Amino acid sequence: MIIQRPRRLRANQLIRNMVAETHLSKDMFMYPYFVIPGTNHKNTISSLPGLHHFSVDELVKDVEIGLKLGINKLLLFGVPEEKSEDAHTAYDDSSVVVKALKALKSAYGSDIYLATDICTCAYMTHGHCGVLYDGVVQNDASLEILSKIALAHAAAGADMVAPSDMMDGRIGAMRNALDASQFQDTALMAYSIKFASAYYGPFREAAGSAPQQGDRKSYQMDFRNRKESMREAYLDEQQGADIIMVKPALAYLDIISDLSASTKLPVACYNVSGEYAMVKLAAKAGLINESALVMENMYAFARAGANLIITYHVRDMLENNWL
Ligand code: PBG
Ligand code: ZN
Repeated sequence: MIIQRPRRLRANQLIRNMVAETHLSKDMFMYPYFVIPGTNHKNTISSLPGLHHFSVDELVKDVEIGLKLGINKLLLFGVPEEKSEDAHTAYDDSSVVVKALKALKSAYGSDIYLATDICTCAYMTHGHCGVLYDGVVQNDASLEILSKIALAHAAAGADMVAPSDMMDGRIGAMRNALDASQFQDTALMAYSIKFASAYYGPFREAAGSAPQQGDRKSYQMDFRNRKESMREAYLDEQQGADIIMVKPALAYLDIISDLSASTKLPVACYNVSGEYAMVKLAAKAGLINESALVMENMYAFARAGANLIITYHVRDMLENNWL
């Protein structure tokens, strides 16, 4: 006689929904945007099907459409015209992110929550996430530039800054710099557990941020390491991070799960460009059901313990009511 019959609770959609252990809401999602100089640009990004490079004016228009769908938390990336040795276009008046922040805040005020990626790779000639000297990315010298970028973004209206460089001590350095300039309310989302990953390919294409020489393995994490990932999270917590991020997401669900069990902070995951592009290309080839696959991935992130999901799929999800 079979007494235990798990199938009883799978009989129809109503009972399945009642016993579902994981729920998603649009409050959990953050949507990335790529901002370029100039006006009147909304250019398709070939490496990221469905996404665009926006000039600030077009960005403001697109965000208005997104806001109506409930897309009100954005992560901004700048794609500058000029690259230099000091990344000055990341923080001076020519910064496209600074311009975007001002324009979006003046148009939408507190209806929108703006986070910015803080890094140098898209702004430096050599494409590394910090200052390069003698072929080595210099940790402490990089902290100064990164803090400058964070300050410029905070001053332009960023609600949150999100350093993605992986230098040691950056969270503490930025928290100090922000607090010293009266930006103690600007939040810090740390890309704490960021692995040196081949999944960033389409992003680097879109941001023009691939290293000209070498790779990022001397600062991004080795994907063989699990304990070390908890160490990175712990250090960022100690230095004042408000949210801890794991990146990429799909191949790192074990890390998301470990982290959510061991931290008191909200856990974010970044469903990165390569993960997105694989889904889009497989869907285009007719190999998978896009909406079903995307939602399966999103529930997997939440089930693993992610409180917040950064993903390029947000627009498709909300436009087509997949949530
Ligand atoms: C910049 C940065 C990268 C991503 C976010 N910020 C690229 C990298 O580290 O090479 C990747 C995002 C994605 O792949 O979607 N440091
Ligand atoms: Zn970088």
